[in-house]
Amino acid sequence: MCGIVGYTGPRQALPQILEGLRRLEYRGYDSSGVAVLDGAGELHTAKKAGELANLEKYIDSGVVALEGTTGMGHTRWATHGGPTDRNAHPHTDATGRTAVIHNGIIENFPVLRAELERAGVELASDTDTEVVAHLLGAAFATGPTAGDLPASMAATCRRLEGAFTLVATHADVPDMLVAARRNSPLVIGVGEGEMFVASDVAAFITHTREAVELGQDQLVVITPDSYEVTSFLAGSSATTDFRPFHVDWDLAAAEKGGHQFFMDKEIQEQPAAVEDTLRGHFDGTRIVLDEQRLGDDELRTIDKVFVVACGTAFHSGLVAKYAIEHWTRLPVEVELASEFRYRDPVLDRDTLVVAISQSGETADTLEAVRHARRQRARVLAVCNTNGSQIPRESDAVLYTHAGPEVGVASTKCFLAQVTANYLVGLALAQARGTKYPDEVAREFTTLLEMPAAIADTLTRMDPVRELGREIAQSKAVLFLGRHVGFPVALEGALKLKELAYMHAEGFAAGELKHGPIALIEEGLPVVVVTPSPRSMPLLHSKLLSNIREIQARGARTIVIGEEGDDTIAPFADVLIELPRVPSLLQPLVATVPLQVLAAEIARTRGYNIDKPRNLAKSVTVE
Ligand code: M6R
Repeated sequence: MCGIVGYTGPRQALPQILEGLRRLEYRGYDSSGVAVLDGAGELHTAKKAGELANLEKYIDSGVVALEGTTGMGHTRWATHGGPTDRNAHPHTDATGRTAVIHNGIIENFPVLRAELERAGVELASDTDTEVVAHLLGAAFATGPTAGDLPASMAATCRRLEGAFTLVATHADVPDMLVAARRNSPLVIGVGEGEMFVASDVAAFITHTREAVELGQDQLVVITPDSYEVTSFLAGSSATTDFRPFHVDWDLAAAEKGGHQFFMDKEIQEQPAAVEDTLRGHFDGTRIVLDEQRLGDDELRTIDKVFVVACGTAFHSGLVAKYAIEHWTRLPVEVELASEFRYRDPVLDRDTLVVAISQSGETADTLEAVRHARRQRARVLAVCNTNGSQIPRESDAVLYTHAGPEVGVASTKCFLAQVTANYLVGLALAQARGTKYPDEVAREFTTLLEMPAAIADTLTRMDPVRELGREIAQSKAVLFLGRHVGFPVALEGALKLKELAYMHAEGFAAGELKHGPIALIEEGLPVVVVTPSPRSMPLLHSKLLSNIREIQARGARTIVIGEEGDDTIAPFADVLIELPRVPSLLQPLVATVPLQVLAAEIARTRGYNIDKPRNLAKSVTVE
């Protein structure tokens, strides 16, 4: 998830691009860069690692001339290749006359890279994007598309697999940008004698509110006075299948995609976060991790797994325990990172420590990783931030591709972590042979169905928001669950505590009668996460008894259950239905209403849900 912006018109391009990048920085801030075409047929680029301010300082120092009325800029969220100057976009071909910026992941880039290397091309970065610059440069230089930038771009896009929004420029083609999209966003901004392309309308909203949303596999050519949309699939035929629209949000809302808070937007982005986390991790026969510096031989010798993490990431680890134990028959312990190294855990070379962290910088988790490595355990990081400390110090990495999470309360990263943890479980099962290849393939296919199930869940949230407004002044809310519903209950309670500053506790429903039931009083809202009656009939019936017990003592029961489960309706004061999914994967849908509930309660109480009091997004102190 990166931010891209392009401009062509009568004004100097650089100020428009930098303004756009400032508004898109929420999409990534590992590095940034610009390319500008001058009036004399030359292309000039500038790029810097770190925040946009670094690039601005570099440009202000005057080392590079960036005058011209056509150009493009990029703010990066690193996926392939660390966050360095050389990996920053734009990337150019060997002539330095073709430049490309990219948002997404080119899945077949290893194949394309090898092909270029065999042809003697020297690559200057570790990115998947650079291969596009070389392919495009070559298509423009010779062959059937020579000298035709749109046709060269279409031909190049046909060779790419994965998700991409690309914008390209060529020094021989003044006043023109060519952009294309597949599975990543791209909008055109239609101004008076000027045109923009960007990953989000926020980039150009102060200049024009007339926008066009591109469809799948489309290519657009913009010049100052025109835009033309075609399909880049074979034939590159003209198409009308795109959507012009008028932006009626103000600037503040535009940065948040029309939502009041970033967290609202991030909740909506969850289907994409899960889809992107799964992308490229199954090669048709096997699960593949990102930077697997641990071979199958080493994974086969593992006899115990520890999961270490903090807060929401810890809850994702609790879900992982159920999946990894079920699929691999390995014992799994889940430990708060802050406790792990102070109690002398039993670790050796055959222990796998899975360290989960959105930021990759959490001090407690980082210290747990260092402790584990000192004890010779193997460490696998599950992380959302490419190039951060925890993956750097680990033996292997699996990145969650949720994109930047701005809201302090973690939402889309939790779902992405849960997804990545399932992949870890399947990778272990495959290496250890506890699942046959066809079983692993089947589980992966089921995972691929989850983004649609999450999207379906998101369409059912109006009654949850209504409930949030209704119970916003309650003294406390309790959350109950069993099996994978237990970590979901803990996560629901954490969201409510941190966003609404309300007393909230999550319990394993079976524990209730051992003490917490004393908390139940007339009208107390209790949220119960219920398993599927089809696949977990025994647990379901136990949970039904738990619901009856609390209802009899006056609790207001808010039951999260599977659609079509008629048995729970009589015991639910409020029933929130989820789509049917396999029991082990239920956290991916069951967590969504709890996030929405917490956000709505906090909103009703008048709090800034993006910045809860006393909290920080990355906790870099122990
Ligand atoms: O960056 P990390 O995933 O390591 O952060 C861990 C916790 O600090 C984080 O999940 C925290 O609990 C969130 N605020 C929860 O919403």
